[in-house]
Amino acid sequence: MKKIAVLTSGGDAPGMNACIHSMFQTCALNNVALYGVRRGYSGLIEGDLYKLKYEDVRNINNIGGSFLGTSRCKEFETPEGRQKVLEILQKNKIDCLIAIGGDGTFSGLIELEKIYPNVIGIPGTIDNDLGYTERTIGFDTAVNNAVNAIDIIQQTMIANRRISIIETMGRHCGLIALHSATAGNASIVVTSEKPKTEEELEELIKIQVKRGNLAPCVVVAEKLFDVNALARRLEKNLGIEARGIVLGYIQRGGSPTVSDRILAMRYAVESVTNAIAKKFGFVLGLRADKIIKESLNNFKNFSPNFEEELFEQFCARKKI
Ligand code: F6P
Repeated sequence: MKKIAVLTSGGDAPGMNACIHSMFQTCALNNVALYGVRRGYSGLIEGDLYKLKYEDVRNINNIGGSFLGTSRCKEFETPEGRQKVLEILQKNKIDCLIAIGGDGTFSGLIELEKIYPNVIGIPGTIDNDLGYTERTIGFDTAVNNAVNAIDIIQQTMIANRRISIIETMGRHCGLIALHSATAGNASIVVTSEKPKTEEELEELIKIQVKRGNLAPCVVVAEKLFDVNALARRLEKNLGIEARGIVLGYIQRGGSPTVSDRILAMRYAVESVTNAIAKKFGFVLGLRADKIIKESLNNFKNFSPNFEEELFEQFCARKKI
């Protein structure tokens, strides 16, 4: 094993840089060169990769985003695009490609593996929506970012006696909403796994108000409601001021938390160690605090694990 290439793909996630930092260190200890691919599969198709030096990674451990850049690449979804990638990997004598990303990134790796078998996937997405693993890099930071925002919003909402409808990210997965609502002491949480109609939500808010809640805070996962329209509806029907707030990208940036840095480091070491041992064709994950390997072809057979018990505890505590 002489050369490993790494890329980040899909939505960036805090901790991706920390992962590459640790990969570099593990490679250096084993006399392996680490190549960085700029802008994910888009950069790989164009041959945009370079040998990383210590100066490139020295100060990135605590920085969010991805210093390599990332993309969602349509061309890589075509056989022609993947053929170009194969040629680039062969031309640069890359012995293993490690891709950090989520569902789309790994789906791309499944196809690439058919013509270039030496691939490994590391789960990096704030959504934590990969069912085969309990944790992806970036989720913990995104939840912490969301909770910080919810704490701040609740202070001003309570002062003004307003209802807040706060939208979190997560694509189709409600885990960012569930965790941030729980830690942020929201009144109600709505996700695609536990949906509610606008009418049901209104009834629940009425109950909260009757119980003396001065400023009911509702956390909703993205893609479910127009939070501004919902706030206007609540104002009209309940006669209480309401605000819709989309948290957006403040969840996805920022310095990775301790948990994300450590997880990133563990995935990094495991990926490089396996590559050196010439073990390929899997994605890494975490189960019961152990790093596990799941075969690339099997990772899609696990549906995202919505944490039912946490949801039930949230509802019981809030009496909803
Ligand atoms: O997958 C990460 C994520 O932030 C999702 O939570 C969100 O739905 C999506 O990416 C947004 O993607 P983009 O920044 O490409 O619009």
